[in-house]
Amino acid sequence: MWAGQTLTKLPTPAFTVDVKVVQRNAQRMIDRFQALGVQLRPHMKTHKTLECGEIMTAGTRRCIVVSTLAEARFYADSGFDDILYAYPLPFDKVEECAALAERLEAFHVLVDSQEALQQLRQRKLANSKRWLVWLKVDCENGRAGVKHTDPGALELAKEIARQEETELAGVYAHCGNTYSCSGQQAIEVVAQSTTTSILQFASQLEKAGVKCPRTSIGSTPSCSHPVPDMGKLTEVHPGNYIFYDAQQMMIGSCKMEDIAVRVLTRVIGHYPHRNELLVDCGWTGISLHSLGKLPSGYAIIEGHPDLKLVGMTQEHGRIQPISGELDFSKFPLGSLLSLIPYHSCATAAMHPVYYIHSDGKIVGTWTPTRGW
Ligand SMILES: Cc1ncc(COP(=O)(O)O)c(C=O)c1O
Repeated sequence: MWAGQTLTKLPTPAFTVDVKVVQRNAQRMIDRFQALGVQLRPHMKTHKTLECGEIMTAGTRRCIVVSTLAEARFYADSGFDDILYAYPLPFDKVEECAALAERLEAFHVLVDSQEALQQLRQRKLANSKRWLVWLKVDCENGRAGVKHTDPGALELAKEIARQEETELAGVYAHCGNTYSCSGQQAIEVVAQSTTTSILQFASQLEKAGVKCPRTSIGSTPSCSHPVPDMGKLTEVHPGNYIFYDAQQMMIGSCKMEDIAVRVLTRVIGHYPHRNELLVDCGWTGISLHSLGKLPSGYAIIEGHPDLKLVGMTQEHGRIQPISGELDFSKFPLGSLLSLIPYHSCATAAMHPVYYIHSDGKIVGTWTPTRGW
């Protein structure tokens, strides 16, 4: 319906994706890890679309990570396989995981407790299949996972390998602590320490006679600036790099031209007494994720470094000049502004459809999966 039209025709707020930038981001990551001899297992959580999954896997539809079972089913139903559900096993979803493990060639789950392992053992898979189980290790990220220094972590890995219902597929650490870095050097420090910790952990396992076939770390900052030792890993699992965003640019993962997504919004109000414009994008169109941390507020207003998105309610956004008086004649009612999101995963999650464009012309739409 939209193909061939210009972006200016879109109903706003509209989430737009520059497909050429997406393809370039995907190819760079593929080339980077091919050169290091490491398998790229891209995460689908940022976009949750089949089209991007296809691009990120270079058309193989194999070897992906998901963060929800809705994603797992969505990709499995479209012929994707070798899917890692990288989320601490939720006990209410063991049956659904079993159905996926029984129907796919490889459906991997992740655990970080003896209790989760017991849940898997109690639900034996059909046809003598074994559960493919990754141990989630916390290498100072401080979210999920057994701490890499905890002797219980080695014990749990050994236990997974020993049981007849399960197979140790690998060890997985997410270095989300790269998100508090500023600049490439700081990112490399975290990438190096996570890599060292996970490799040491795997070597301790091997010394204890337990084969650990895979080691995986990753985040968009660390995979955008991999340290040479990451070549000793078997896999990496970044996801956000496909779109990037203002946060990644501030951290130092990417440049402005690498950000593939925007939210288009229209001016719907002029309020000279408040020196303020109103736009039709509230937090349901872009999210409050930035908490106003950018100098330009909740987003970057493309082409207008003098403007700030100062606040939002559900469907309204308030824009003021960073300083001085606003020239309202530059922003007539109905005119378009383009917002660069702070966190593209959060912004994408707010939109039921993405408008895909190339050189300013719409080439189609992508429909993400939603829910859990
Ligand atoms: C467990 C896990 N793995 C991989 C990723 C991908 O990291 P990024 O979004 O930095 O690319 C995430 C992102 O939050 C994650 O939570």
